[in-house]
Amino acid sequence: MSKQPLEAVIYQTFKINLNSLVYPLFVREGRGVREEIPSMPGIYRFSPDTLIKEAESLWRLGVTTVLLFGIAGRKDETGRGAYEKGNIVSKSVSLLKRYVPTLTVITDVCLCAYTSHGHCGVLEDSDTGRIDNEHTLSALAMAALLHAEAGADCVAPSAMAKKQVGVIRGILDKNGHRDTEIIGYSAKFASQFYGPFREAADSAPRFGDRRSYQLDYFRTEDALAEIEDDIAEGADIVMVKPALSYLDVIREAKRIFKYPLAAYSVSGEYAMVKTGASQGYWDEKKMVFETFSAIRRAGADFVITYHARDIAEWLKEGK
Ligand code: PBG
Repeated sequence: MSKQPLEAVIYQTFKINLNSLVYPLFVREGRGVREEIPSMPGIYRFSPDTLIKEAESLWRLGVTTVLLFGIAGRKDETGRGAYEKGNIVSKSVSLLKRYVPTLTVITDVCLCAYTSHGHCGVLEDSDTGRIDNEHTLSALAMAALLHAEAGADCVAPSAMAKKQVGVIRGILDKNGHRDTEIIGYSAKFASQFYGPFREAADSAPRFGDRRSYQLDYFRTEDALAEIEDDIAEGADIVMVKPALSYLDVIREAKRIFKYPLAAYSVSGEYAMVKTGASQGYWDEKKMVFETFSAIRRAGADFVITYHARDIAEWLKEGK
């Protein structure tokens, strides 16, 4: 085999795979908003108008898929804002579809940004943060339907409620949204790496943690079982999250299920790369390419990453 320079191999790989990048975007109410998130330098909260401008520029760069997170203006005990008509996510999806119609829009479906306690579901017991699964499922189903009605191409339930994929598939089908796809946040581990995101989305649990519904990080078998369940319930794509500390799970999931697989390189992974680079510990671009390659090599078909915009820019420069 002829040995090409490393840069050339990397560029080639990335060029082929620009379509596999998913870029998360945060949106809140307001006008003209573009506020940087302190824990995630280079990542912003947008209002719907600035979100459109950002999406147009992403599209021109070749980032064609985004994952949308809503930041609630108002929170309550049961997270009603998540499925209220005309809420921030549905409004933003409609605008994106009007102004950048060829952009693929995925929406995160969860309650944690909308509940006053910051947990991902409706609580059964407010001392332990235990989730009332049935009640949570109907809230998630309504939110997913709202996003689909606004034109989302794909909904991504991230609450880790039991049967969330199946219930959402059911309500979408019943309402004429058979073509709306579902990404299951199937193997979502209770992780320290979500810290910066919770600042970004103002969604940190006010008490307790998420271990009653997210996976303990030593339980690989449970992770694989969750993936199997999501596939059986009708997920189009399954996910492992976070990415870097769970490359073995990505590998196993791909090997066993041979199913379209996404990996979410989460906020804490991004913050580590950024912090180290700002301290001069490493070269940011080389670090991003190295870690991104590792996630792809492990078996992820899609990588959700806050570096997506930068990667696309680097590729453009490298041409
Ligand atoms: C919502 C959700 C979270 C993330 C994605 N969807 C936060 C959490 O579970 O606490 C984290 C993403 C990231 O850290 O980049 N449940």
